[in-house]
Amino acid sequence: MTLDLEALETSFDLVAPHGDELMDEFYSRLFATAPSVRPLFPTDMQRQKVMLLGALHSATSTPSSPSCESSARDTSRTVPGPSTTRSSAPL
Ligand code: HEM
Repeated sequence: MTLDLEALETSFDLVAPHGDELMDEFYSRLFATAPSVRPLFPTDMQRQKVMLLGALHSATSTPSSPSCESSARDTSRTVPGPSTTRSSAPL
């Protein structure tokens, strides 16, 4: 299967303005489908949602894209360092 990077990037640009809803939907579906993974995540999912959205943006943006660069700067301001309370349970 060939990955259409342009379609991936443009389709993500369409949903990115609704990032909060997108993350709510992602984790709602994940926990409904696989309730056993819920304990792997923190009770307060706000930071997790910010990190996932940032990771998806990075993965769907070309390095030369100005919107990617500005977003990367924004993300670095809002995303704290790696969690110090992360579970060591394997995924
Ligand atoms: C599009 C798919 C996904 C992306 C891009 C993604 C990305 C991320 C990112 C950026 C983090 C934060 C890493 C850090 O702390 O620095 C994270 C943490 C984590 N992810 Fe994912 N993830 C994805 C799917 C999943 C799925 C399907 C699971 C299912 C179990 C999962 C389980 C976890 C867990 C348990 C953590 C650690 C939470 C904690 O800090 O306590 N992820 N992921």
